[in-house]
Amino acid sequence: MTHAKEFIKASIKGIKEYVPGKSTEEIAVGYGIESGNIIKLGSNENPLGPSPMAVEAVHNMAGTISVYPSVDAAELKRALADYVGYPEDNVVLGAGMDGVVDTLMRLFVQPGTDVIIPTPTFSYFGIAVGSAGGVPVYVKRQPDYSVDTDSVISALSDSTRFIYLVSPNNPSGNTVPEADVRKIVESTRALVFLDEAYVEFANRSLTGLVTEYDNLIVGRTMSKAMGLAGLRVGYAVVPQWIIGQYMKVTTPFAISRISVAAGLAALQDTDYRKRTIENVLTGRQFLSDGLSGHCRVFPSEANFIMIDVSPKKSKDVTEALLELGIIVRDCTSFRDAGESLIRITVGTPTQNTRLVDAITRILQL
Ligand SMILES: Cc1ncc(COP(=O)(O)O)c(C=O)c1O
Repeated sequence: MTHAKEFIKASIKGIKEYVPGKSTEEIAVGYGIESGNIIKLGSNENPLGPSPMAVEAVHNMAGTISVYPSVDAAELKRALADYVGYPEDNVVLGAGMDGVVDTLMRLFVQPGTDVIIPTPTFSYFGIAVGSAGGVPVYVKRQPDYSVDTDSVISALSDSTRFIYLVSPNNPSGNTVPEADVRKIVESTRALVFLDEAYVEFANRSLTGLVTEYDNLIVGRTMSKAMGLAGLRVGYAVVPQWIIGQYMKVTTPFAISRISVAAGLAALQDTDYRKRTIENVLTGRQFLSDGLSGHCRVFPSEANFIMIDVSPKKSKDVTEALLELGIIVRDCTSFRDAGESLIRITVGTPTQNTRLVDAITRILQL
């Protein structure tokens, strides 16, 4: 007798599972540390917690959760379109940016199509490509983690459907210069997906370029600067020709009523956003100054920094930090990241000080 297990698509077999940052609960149990003493700087969340206005909106919505949300979260789409300065016809939503990526895979990726991914980078795009039956074509970034535009362009083929650029990049924190984005977009008919999950912490966004090109999509999210990672609201600015097709295949009701309400409130809370960004800019500088005498610190425009702890191994340093109740991200699971890179989310001033003291001690051992 055959077993249904055999029917799992062959393309799934080669996929490496997404490795999330460690949770506070895991470390509390695993290391016997009280959860109040653990600091979580491993998942690029907002250390200030959510916007109070978003929390209030969630409470106010609680009595209506037995009713479906609007099928396309139109109210939130309008507000997000306003926020990025585009008409609604240029904005699509999903359950996190990951959800937007899934829908785009349904539209464009199938067995036999290629997607170019400069590494190291955020791994979910490659996973989504593989599960749609496509082939991720990994192109290594330069030693300073900038995208090697010539290698990307040489990797293009007739079957390329996407090029995935992340700016600021996770885990390296650097942005892709506008000239490089333009060069890549202009060199192909394939779609460029520019992931700007962290763009609120950078000097400048390239979302405005979507009006100029019919093959550029810019992914954005409410998980980072807007503090709504737990609610899963992502969006993308897309050329208008994509909207109708996207709406045909996206999951209906993907954005819950609670998420819509919290998203609308978070967008209005400009004070929270200002505090969030100030905290990141000051904290990023503090971490960079505090650590640069002890290890290599890469310049970052995101809400995290990446350090190189060689000749030590990132695995050992992150383990030593966990024993002290500090969660950071060992980058070993990122393809082409090697064994000595660590990503650290900018925390509150107190958390940052504790982190710098701890790493300094560990690196001196
Ligand atoms: C570069 C990048 N893109 C996308 C995402 C996913 O965002 P979302 O929470 O909106 O799914 C993340 C999350 O960490 C990320 O680092």
